[in-house]
Amino acid sequence: MIINRDTIIKAYEESEIGEYAIPHFNHSDFWDMSFIVEAANEKDAPVIVACLPRVAERYGLDKLTLMMNFYSKHSEVPIIYHLDHCHDVDFCKRAIDAGFHSVMIDAASLSLEENIKTVKEVVDYARPRGVFVESEIGQIKSAGEEGYTPVSFKATVDEAMKLVEESDVDSLAVSIGSEHGFYAHAPELDFELLKRIKEKIPVPLVLHGGSGIPAKDVKTAIKHGIRKVNVGTEIRHTYITSLNASISENGAGVHTIDLFEEARIATKAVLGSWIEIDGAAGKGRKTYEK
Ligand code: 13P
Repeated sequence: MIINRDTIIKAYEESEIGEYAIPHFNHSDFWDMSFIVEAANEKDAPVIVACLPRVAERYGLDKLTLMMNFYSKHSEVPIIYHLDHCHDVDFCKRAIDAGFHSVMIDAASLSLEENIKTVKEVVDYARPRGVFVESEIGQIKSAGEEGYTPVSFKATVDEAMKLVEESDVDSLAVSIGSEHGFYAHAPELDFELLKRIKEKIPVPLVLHGGSGIPAKDVKTAIKHGIRKVNVGTEIRHTYITSLNASISENGAGVHTIDLFEEARIATKAVLGSWIEIDGAAGKGRKTYEK
């Protein structure tokens, strides 16, 4: 399947009609990248495979997109490759040139005016090249960051509207009480705020910090308009825990292909359950049918 901004918009339109969220999964290497693609195909779901800038720097943008374009092309479901939380406009541009389908420019820690200006610069570069752009309003940080609690940097409706109108960005990550990493206590998502943002914002809304949010809250968020749910920590945790157990059991005398087998099964089970929670199972192949 060929992926570009038009097909991503179509995938989001389908998720809006069907009231589900497109699963976003962060990968850290080529193994977990393949687990995500396999899970998406098996569950017949559209997925966004997301790469943090430090992962992209480690492997190289061209090598990653070469592999991902192979997977996208040979999958019957939409496999969208996305640069996650990039703070650097030039790096976003390099990712776009390298063939990423989608980039997130995260300028949320800047003033609203600077955020808009930064996002617009990426949008202006991405649009003629057929690449989708996500931005962020309010700030979604990581558990334990100094001075941060999930409620301390919530989005506001007015700022969200101004950012979307003036930057013409394609989608918007909204800070509504979630944070990255495992939670000390289950988060309290602000559904009232989400509903008010949804009423005013025409582009797809994104929920970050999926790991540890109870499934019922994720479903409520989807009901109130979330169209992408980002999950990273839970995947890494499952992958590493399982790999660790295999290494303890088998020692270093085995082929890595055998060592990774348990991790593949365990990680795919978690990916599959998130695809179900998001309501995206069975929605992949038919995304572009009409
Ligand atoms: P978690 O690692 O908390 O699941 O969050 C992932 C995320 O939001 C990536 O953008």
